[in-house]
Amino acid sequence: MGPFTSHQFSLVKTPCLEGKVAVITGGQAGVGCEITKTLLACHIKKVIVLARSGRKFDSALEEWRRLPHLGIVKSENDIEETVPFIQCDLSDVYSVRDAVPEIEKYTDRVDYVFCNAGLGVMDKYAISPQGIEAVFAANVVGHQVLLTLLLPLMRRTIAEHGASDVRVIVTSSSMHRLCRELDLSLLQSSGATKPQLFDGIWRYARSKVGTILLAREFTERLLASPNEADHHIYVNAFNPGNIATEQMDVWKSYFGFIIGTLIKLFFAIFGQSTQDGASTALYLAVSPDVTRGKGMRGEYLMPVAVKDRTSNLAENRPLARELWDWVDTQVTNILGENWGSPDQRLIDGAGVEKKEKEASTA
Ligand SMILES: NC(=O)c1ccc[n+]([C@@H]2O[C@H](COP(=O)([O-])OP(=O)(O)OC[C@H]3O[C@@H](n4cnc5c(N)ncnc54)[C@H](OP(=O)(O)O)[C@@H]3O)[C@@H](O)[C@H]2O)c1
Repeated sequence: MGPFTSHQFSLVKTPCLEGKVAVITGGQAGVGCEITKTLLACHIKKVIVLARSGRKFDSALEEWRRLPHLGIVKSENDIEETVPFIQCDLSDVYSVRDAVPEIEKYTDRVDYVFCNAGLGVMDKYAISPQGIEAVFAANVVGHQVLLTLLLPLMRRTIAEHGASDVRVIVTSSSMHRLCRELDLSLLQSSGATKPQLFDGIWRYARSKVGTILLAREFTERLLASPNEADHHIYVNAFNPGNIATEQMDVWKSYFGFIIGTLIKLFFAIFGQSTQDGASTALYLAVSPDVTRGKGMRGEYLMPVAVKDRTSNLAENRPLARELWDWVDTQVTNILGENWGSPDQRLIDGAGVEKKEKEASTA
């Protein structure tokens, strides 16, 4: 609950980010809008926003423009320079692939990748253009493709631009605990496998287990990689809290307008704020705690900036490896063998397992 939230970090502690570049999915609405606003207030060189709705981006831009301390200058060219918007539907593998060359037009470095966007609980079953359940496709598959294709840029940031590290921040949810099994064969079902209300919640929960597994498997593959720069990429996941954003409007379609509105109102009063949600993301992006000592890798935090345990399913290493390989295979079937050029590929699952065995017997 919001009033009892422990605050281990606050947005005002974000340091000056001059010269840094961020990519954020869903950075024009809800928690993502708050993250983008903070990055701008801290003088980031560029923050590239990926999402579907240009309309939401335009209204966010209007809000940011009204806040002079964000330094969003008036001329259209300057705005496009500082906060470029790239239309991208994360549930469509082609759309994500096409977004990456667009990102590269704006920058040759990326210091922070916020995998923030997410489809919420959906009352209707939907599948992605490539036949994967839509919520999982957007929240997990789209982000894995994006991270894989952005890897060369992350490596260059360390190897060529001299950055000490790159941070990847993956948004999950406490609702991941509601999913007790992740059967990969169900990810391409043509319809719901459970009663309507339960199915929508379960599919969202399943996708949020997927985001934690994604963060953890990416971490393992980076650590096992022969490329030294990969060892300086820190990937962590977090739960932003219970926040009255557009995601909560779904309860109106489940329970009717009045009860749905009351549920959202309840969380607006007793839940966390968008600032709380953004604070944990910013903590993972800028805090020296993340790189200190052995560093924070593959961790899961709750609001605000407090380490938390995940469900057993989200800690299942073989499942994480299997899921990464499953996504990789699906994307290879869609985009072809060469979708990730050699410098985008990480060590494969078998290689990670071998390295882990070597490390445990050493
Ligand atoms: N609110 C909560 O209580 C809560 C709790 C736990 C976790 N979360 C997570 O926090 C993150 C932010 O959610 P929020 O609460 O800020 O919700 P929100 O206001 O609905 O924002 C969701 C963002 O994701 C983008 N998005 C959704 N589907 C997308 C797709 N297919 N492709 C690209 N972008 C997409 C949306 O932009 P477009 O619609 O323009 O694409 C929007 O910017 C999500 O991952 C959510 O699951 C939220």
